[in-house]
Order: sequence, then structure tokens, then C-alpha cells
Amino acid sequence: MAAITLTVNNQQHKIDVDPQMPLLWAIRDFVGLKGTKYGCGIAQCGACTVLLDGNPIRSCSFPVSAAAGKKISTVEGLSENIEHPVQQAWIELQVPQCGYCQSGQIMSAVALLKKTPEPTDAQIDAAMQGHLCRCGTYPRIRKAIHRAAELMKTKA
Ligand code: FES
Ligand code: FES
Repeated sequence: MAAITLTVNNQQHKIDVDPQMPLLWAIRDFVGLKGTKYGCGIAQCGACTVLLDGNPIRSCSFPVSAAAGKKISTVEGLSENIEHPVQQAWIELQVPQCGYCQSGQIMSAVALLKKTPEPTDAQIDAAMQGHLCRCGTYPRIRKAIHRAAELMKTKA
């Protein structure tokens, strides 16, 4: 066991855990944020995606110790009242079906738009590759990312 301090959504959390434990379990079971989901556990589906210093990572396959001292962002940290442009676009276009994959999808969309404010379809497809959605929401996700880009422009 090791004492590890995680910074999640700008708040510090001191936890005592096996340093090799996946970050996903630290976020869900120790920090108590359940928005990040467990899908496959082998970095193949994207359900567990969070941002580490702004970059999407698969938290099911990322040791908690490697996240110490870095900035972790989860879906809960995007906004207080669901007013983040990506969340707004997701609602407007009714993207989620069962919803299970969506927090991971949203976090990758947020990272994409931060680096590429007006992505092409090809850039969206490349950034979202590896996110599986058993409900087949891919076309809506693509549209919602374009819509979020528009919303961000009007907000800027
Ligand atoms: S649960 Fe992490 S990629 Fe599937
Ligand atoms: S919305 Fe159901 S798995 Fe994606």
C-alpha cells in the first residue's frame, strides 16, 4: 500500500492504495465519482476515459501511482450545471441511448475540441476511434461535436 495524493477536478484527495491499482477504481471507489464507467477493463472500449493533464487515457489500465501529481479531469468536473458546450450539444442532439459509454465519449470530445476547435469529420473519427458504443450513437456523436464547436465559438 502507498499514500497517494490525486488531484481530481481541481480537488486533492489523499488515498492509501496499492500503487498498481487502476486509476478507475481510485476515482470510483476512493474519490466517489461514479460517472466514469468500467466496460472492458483492457483498454479496448473507452468507457473509462478521463483526462490526465488534458489528454484522454483509459483509466481501467492506468496505474493510480502514475496519476499522482497530475491533473485528472472526469465528466463531473466539466461544469456545475451541465453548461459545458459539449454537454449542451449532447443534450440538444439527444446523443445518449443507454448512456453507458457516454462519459468516456464526452471526455475525448472535450480533449479534441481543446486542441482542435473546428475539427473535420476525419479528425473527429480519429479522435473518437476506440470508443465503442453498443447503441450505435456514432453519427450523433459526430454531429454533436460539430455543434459543440459552434457553441464554443459563440461563447468565445
Ligand atoms: S473499461 Fe477501460 S477501455 Fe474499456
Ligand atoms: S449509448 Fe449505449 S453504449 Fe453508448
